[in-house]
Formats: sequence, C-alpha cells, structure tokens
Amino acid sequence: MAQRKGAKPPAPPAKRRRALRSHAWFGKLDRDGLAHRSWMKNQGLPHHLFDGRPVIGICNTWSELTPCNAHFRDLAEHVKRGVYEMGGFPLEFPVMSLGETLMRPTTMLFRNLASMDVEESIRANPLDGVVLLTGCDKTTPSLMMGAASCDLPTLVVSGGPMLNGHFRGELIGSGTHVWKFTDMLKTGELKPEDLPEVEAGMSRSAGSCMTMGTASTMASMAEALGMALPTNAAIPAADSRRRTLSHMAGRRIVEMVREDLRMSKVLTKQAFENAIMANAAIGGSTNAVVHLLALAGRMGIKLSLDDWDRIGRIVPCLVNLMPSGKYLMEHFYYAGGLPVVLREIGPLLYKKALTVNGRTIWDNVKDAKCWDRDVIFPLDKPFKKLGGVAVLRGNLAPNGAVLKPSAATNSLMKHRGRAVVFKDIDDYKKRVDDPSLDIDATCVMVLQNCGPRGYPGFPEVGNMSLPLKLLKQGVKDMVRISDARMSGTAYGTVVLHVAPEAAAGGPLALVRDGDMIELDVKNRRLHLDVSDAELEKRRRKWKAPKPHDERGWVRLYCETVQQADTGCDLDFLVGASGAPVPRESH
Ligand code: FES
Repeated sequence: MAQRKGAKPPAPPAKRRRALRSHAWFGKLDRDGLAHRSWMKNQGLPHHLFDGRPVIGICNTWSELTPCNAHFRDLAEHVKRGVYEMGGFPLEFPVMSLGETLMRPTTMLFRNLASMDVEESIRANPLDGVVLLTGCDKTTPSLMMGAASCDLPTLVVSGGPMLNGHFRGELIGSGTHVWKFTDMLKTGELKPEDLPEVEAGMSRSAGSCMTMGTASTMASMAEALGMALPTNAAIPAADSRRRTLSHMAGRRIVEMVREDLRMSKVLTKQAFENAIMANAAIGGSTNAVVHLLALAGRMGIKLSLDDWDRIGRIVPCLVNLMPSGKYLMEHFYYAGGLPVVLREIGPLLYKKALTVNGRTIWDNVKDAKCWDRDVIFPLDKPFKKLGGVAVLRGNLAPNGAVLKPSAATNSLMKHRGRAVVFKDIDDYKKRVDDPSLDIDATCVMVLQNCGPRGYPGFPEVGNMSLPLKLLKQGVKDMVRISDARMSGTAYGTVVLHVAPEAAAGGPLALVRDGDMIELDVKNRRLHLDVSDAELEKRRRKWKAPKPHDERGWVRLYCETVQQADTGCDLDFLVGASGAPVPRESH
C-alpha cells in the first residue's frame, strides 16, 4: 500500500507499555529513525508496522548446500503468518548454514563461527524476539548458542525429519545405513551400480536424517529443554503439521516478547538435567554431550561430563529407533513422539521447568498417549536397560571420554585387547584394508589426532569402519577409541571424545601398537596398561603436530578451542553479553 500523504511518524509506545528494544531503531523521530524506517520501506513494508509492535527475527539456516534445511523458506513464511496474526512484525534473516554432508573438513569446525554470526546478527539489529529455524546437526546448537549469548525471548522451530527410507523392501535409515552399505560395498554384498537406487530410497523428502541421529537428537533436546513447542522433535518435514507448528511458533514468540520470557528463564540447570534424561531415554547422539555443555557455558550454568554420567545412568533407553533400534522418526511421531517419552520419565523429571509456551514441561506432556509400544517402551519395561552416555576415565582419558551403551555390543563392554594404532585419519585410510595389517577381532583400534585441534574441527570419524579382512570373517563390532566424535546415526562399541586429545598432548598420543588397553564400561574405566615410567619416556619424545593454518578462522579456532570435556566452545565465547542496544552507525 502506498504511503498516505501527511501520515504521522510512528508513535512511541504507549506509556504503560514497556519500550521494546526495536523502538531504539524504529521509534525515533530524528535522522536515524528516518533512515532506519525509510530503507526498510523499500521492501513494501507499510508505515504502521513501525508503530512499536514486537519485531521478530526469523533466523534462517536455509541453504541449497544444506539439503536438510532446503525447505526452510517455506517454514519461515508460516512463522510470519503467526507473527502477523498476533500483531508482530516479522523480519527473516540468513545466517551461516552448516550442511553436514557437504562441508569439509567437518561442520563442527564451524559451529562456533556460525554461533558468532547468530549472536552478532541478533544484537546488531532491531529485534525483540527470535525464532530459530534449525535442522541439520550443527544448525541447532550453533543457533541456540548464539541466541543464548544475547538472551532475548527465543523459540526453536526444527525443520523435521525426512520420511522413512526404503530400499528393496527394507526400511533404511539416514546415516545408519550409510555405514551398513559401506561395509556391504567392501564385502561385495552391494554393487556400485546399486548406489543410485540406494541414494534415492534413503532421502525421499525434505527434512533432516530420519534416524535418531544428531539432528533428531538436537531437535529433541530443544523440546526437552523447553525451547521448542511440544511435538517439535518428530513431526516429519513433509507433514503439514510441521507448517502448523511453525505458524503457532510465530504466534507464540510475539506473546513471549510481551511477557519478556527470555532464554535465561527457560534454560535453567533443571532444564539441562531434563534434557540429559531425555537424551538417555531416546538413545540420543553422543554429540548432544558437547553441544549441551557448550550451550550451558553460554548461559553461565555449570554442567559437566559427570552430570551426563550421573543423570544418564538412571535413565534406560525407551525408544526403539535406529541406530539403537529398528524404527525411524516417522514411527516415533505416530507413536506419540517426545511428549510420550517425557511423560514416561516423569518420575525422574524436574516437572516445574518452564517452557516457551509459558507452561511447565509436565503440563505439556502429562496427558501424552503412546500409540505404539513397540516404538516407545514404558519406563518399567524399557527397550534397553542401559541408556545415556557412559563417561569413562583412566590414564588414557584423564579428563574423560564417552561411549553410548545403547549402540554398543554387550560382550565388548568389558574388554582387554591389543592396540592397533593409526596416527591420523590418512594413516587409517591407507592401512585399514591392507591384508598384512596385524589385527584380529580382539584388538582395539586406536585413532589419534582427530580431536578439535588435531583434525582440525573434531570430525565424525570415530566409528572407524572395520578392516575388510575382519568384515569378511563376519566380525560386526570391535572396540574403537579416538579423540574424534561419531555421527549420531552410527553405532558400535566406540569410545569417543577422549580428552585431552592427542594433538594437545593427551595420553592418547602415547599409545603404541601392541600396548594392552582395558575397557570396563560398568566401572567407567579406560586404562592403558603401560607403566607411568614408560609413558613419561614416550611423553618426552612426543612432538606436537604442526599448526594447520597460519591465518583466518582455522588459526583462531585452533588457538582458542576448548577440549571435548567442556564442549569445544572457543574460550572467549563462553558466557553471554546480552543484547544491549549498540550505538548508532552514523
Ligand atoms: Fe543433515 Fe543428517 S545430514 S541432518
């Protein structure tokens, strides 16, 4: 609509109403206010939108290079409908998008960079509240971390999982079957010419990985933390109810601004403990450990690896989803989704934790009904007794390492074996399938220099594929140890996140071929059976690897990244600065 001649400049907010942050931009009747409003009007925005109503940022990780988030422009439109309906003013903005399948060397190298983009974009702009559109693995933690450091009213909308994968009559899961098919390609059970059919059958619709991988885990974490509306985690991306949820999120964020319901009121220590319990109950990704530690660090909440072990230990795995079980996210949604899981663990939950809809977590889930007990099991008859994340310590991991019991092999949870060491990922790739490699099924595969600094970026290579000659013998699992992460879609008896990492001089760097290693998950022990004197001798000879880059982001990252046991945030990003209105630009 054309600007009416003689229209009044925007009125300052009514006296009784709290002046919103955006008023410092759009409410000024001077040169700066003129500039702020005028340039925005080139988008056809009518004058009345600048009247002091809540301005809602829609923080969008849409990108064609992030296929899991490629449908987000549509979701943003539905958020806008809700915002307009409630008298808000929506403004969508892009931030760095992290596509798990294409980015090299690993998206985790850029999680903190994206969080900086989010934080500074929010603080620098006239925003009163924010909706975070998140999907592919790192897009959820990076957006939540950045927003947490600003602490405005914030609500997460996840993009939702893809429809179930199918291939020749079999249910196949994103990621989980990539690992299976990789081994089958090696053994000849699958032919290269089968790949196009596999690829299309696995990724059938918009959305993120439909296993309980990292994306689904982090969407569940957002819901369990109280940062997303109920049912956010599981509605498939292709289901129209995902759009409805986005619409309702748009309505709710406007109310949240009016209620001044900031992130810090939702993200309490109890909310984090609820999320850790939920992660155990869903058989969630080990990646949630580093992401929640980092998020807690932004909120100034003391959360440690010991919290993960203490809380996760008492919660069994209730959800029969790949990679721990057999079903997929579509089944999970039809069975009732995360609200049912939260209701099941109700006796353990902090019921009064506040959520973004203004209700407590318990109010949200107490009436949830389960529609399929083969997908979501009851607490007294769990799917697997061991849920959660086991935190291991010992002379091989003084600051801790993690293992996901629900995805491991029972018979390997207590194991002593001879180390076969790969000094880095290139060494592993070069030698793993060499028929002369001295290895058998009882050995322990050790991978060094794949941690935050070593790779650099802390990639998902910890679930090393087994040597071809052992696969051909029918070996399905072996103990593997590294300072890397693994995909949330992966499985196996895999010890990850060893801290300190090898490249930082951790004991992992000192392991040699033939050393004996003891893993005892029940007693949370990871021991390198080598004398202290011998380790000291090796340490004196150890040389730190050369730095990866002399300039730019990688240099800053390597110089300031923290270790896995504290969440791998950059040391100077820990904490929050809030969102005070910065000074004018002209
Ligand atoms: Fe994007 Fe799995 S690759 S969610």
